[in-house]
Amino acid sequence: MAKNFDVVVIGGGPGGYIAAIRAAQLGFNTACIDEWKNKDGKPAPGGTCTNVGCIPSKALLQSSENYEEAAKHFGDHGIRIDGLSIDIQKMLARKDQVVKQNNDGILFLFKKNKVSFFHGRGSFAKAGAEGYEIQVSGASQETITGKHVIVATGSNPRALPGVPFDEEKVLSNDGALRIPAVPKKLVLIGSGVIGLEMGSVWRRVGAEVTVLEALPTFLGAVDEQIAKEAHKAFTKQGLKIELGVKVGQVKTTGAGVSVSYTNAKGEAQDLQADHLVVSIGRVPNTVGLQPEAVGLKLDERGAIVVDGDCKTNLPNVWAIGDVVRGPMLAHKAEEEGVAVAERIAGQHGHVNFNTIPWVIYTSPEIAWVGRTEQQLKADGVQYKAGTFPFMANGRARALGDTTGMVKFLADAKTDEILGVHIVGPMASELISEAVVAMEFKASSEDIARICHAHPSLSEATKEAALAVDKRTLNF
Ligand code: FAD
Ligand code: NAI
Repeated sequence: MAKNFDVVVIGGGPGGYIAAIRAAQLGFNTACIDEWKNKDGKPAPGGTCTNVGCIPSKALLQSSENYEEAAKHFGDHGIRIDGLSIDIQKMLARKDQVVKQNNDGILFLFKKNKVSFFHGRGSFAKAGAEGYEIQVSGASQETITGKHVIVATGSNPRALPGVPFDEEKVLSNDGALRIPAVPKKLVLIGSGVIGLEMGSVWRRVGAEVTVLEALPTFLGAVDEQIAKEAHKAFTKQGLKIELGVKVGQVKTTGAGVSVSYTNAKGEAQDLQADHLVVSIGRVPNTVGLQPEAVGLKLDERGAIVVDGDCKTNLPNVWAIGDVVRGPMLAHKAEEEGVAVAERIAGQHGHVNFNTIPWVIYTSPEIAWVGRTEQQLKADGVQYKAGTFPFMANGRARALGDTTGMVKFLADAKTDEILGVHIVGPMASELISEAVVAMEFKASSEDIARICHAHPSLSEATKEAALAVDKRTLNF
């Protein structure tokens, strides 16, 4: 196998593996190094997203939602199931199988695109005449050289100070995705994306779930009206969310974990649980990369410093995804990967940070793109708002899922769409129309005048656009 490459990508998560494929498509002799192993010690490319993030969490969200549907909603359709039960081991095995299909898919794509894959840890050794020397430490040791290097080493879960993850009682996202039996009581610290998604999974299959959040507001980054609607729905489902808490001592006990905290009223509280999930954000990962060997600059958070084009302080060294600034999202990492490969080829790769969608895959789902109402107010922008509830949408009624709404925010003068916010069924899919519209600088009138299929949830999007001009037809 060749040892000198045009492009070496360190990290095979969604940022890295997509960058490697795009670089190879552009005619570069490309290598990708990734160290993730499955439980048999075999390569498992795909990073956090494929192994312990996006993919397994969505597999468990689907299984647990199916169970809850069968338990609570099938009766409405006249479907009776006697003796319903859930086999958690089977649910986890299915999730593992979904992950494996994705790992294998990436290895296949590497072959198809002639990307040389190295299984092991990549560390900067030195900058030489041929480019950057990268030491690969895996089953064997070797050195490869890249004229260009793309660092895509991702992120790690943040632990509470003094409370390391043991993945048995104190869990990160990794442990939260493989709890072997339904816990009686589960506590999650942090009501962000992981707290809500993993809290939903385990609540649906029968755990009593409490989420402790430091901030006094629920989902502060989400449009307030949407966050309020979501909070109402989660509370009704039985998810206990305590806001404005100060977490104190966390102790593992024989039976589980005890968590002391002060609630928003200043009262001392104590919770006993079988497991604790700590989901208080993630930190950029450069463990083992040896950035100091070549003088690669990191910031005070440990993120690799890059400019708007993902260029680092070193010539021909680029960094993308969770290890750099910006939202920690798989699709953001992928877009940066494509853009960097194209820039290396002298093209004008581009990522529009204003139209990156966010999705929280709870039920109801929450999805948004662009600015929230509170951000527009803070920015002093004159805007018009329009909302349409799923309750008034025929398809949502047929589905039996009428929670939530679509909300449009448009410029008061030009009518350009500034933000779209959805809480409700299939919000993850519906948001794409808004992303396309914003990318093309559409007005709310543009969406209002487009024919949408009937009956479909997307009609709620059209109606919310009509609502901006106060002319909804079905509400
Ligand atoms: P990563 O996916 O972290 O990949 C980095 C890879 O590099 C890893 O395989 C790692 O082993 C490898 N690596 C690190 N250092 C080295 C080294 N020195 N040598 C060799 N290999 C190395 N985002 C979404 O958009 N949608 C979701 O639904 C979603 N769900 C999530 C659910 C959970 C529970 C979590 C934790 C995250 C979720 N995310 C989601 C976020 C998403 O996983 C990340 O934004 C994404 O994985 C970042 O991609 P990346 O390529 O930058 O890094
Ligand atoms: P997060 O940033 O979404 O939420 C962390 C929450 O913890 C915040 O609400 C914060 O106020 C709170 N918090 C912080 N310190 C605390 C403390 N000491 N006590 C109590 N609360 C505290 O982080 P999370 O959920 O860990 O997820 C990490 C990242 O992974 C997300 O930001 C997102 O980028 C990505 N992700 C994306 C998903 C998706 O796209 N659907 C799903 C899951 C994760």
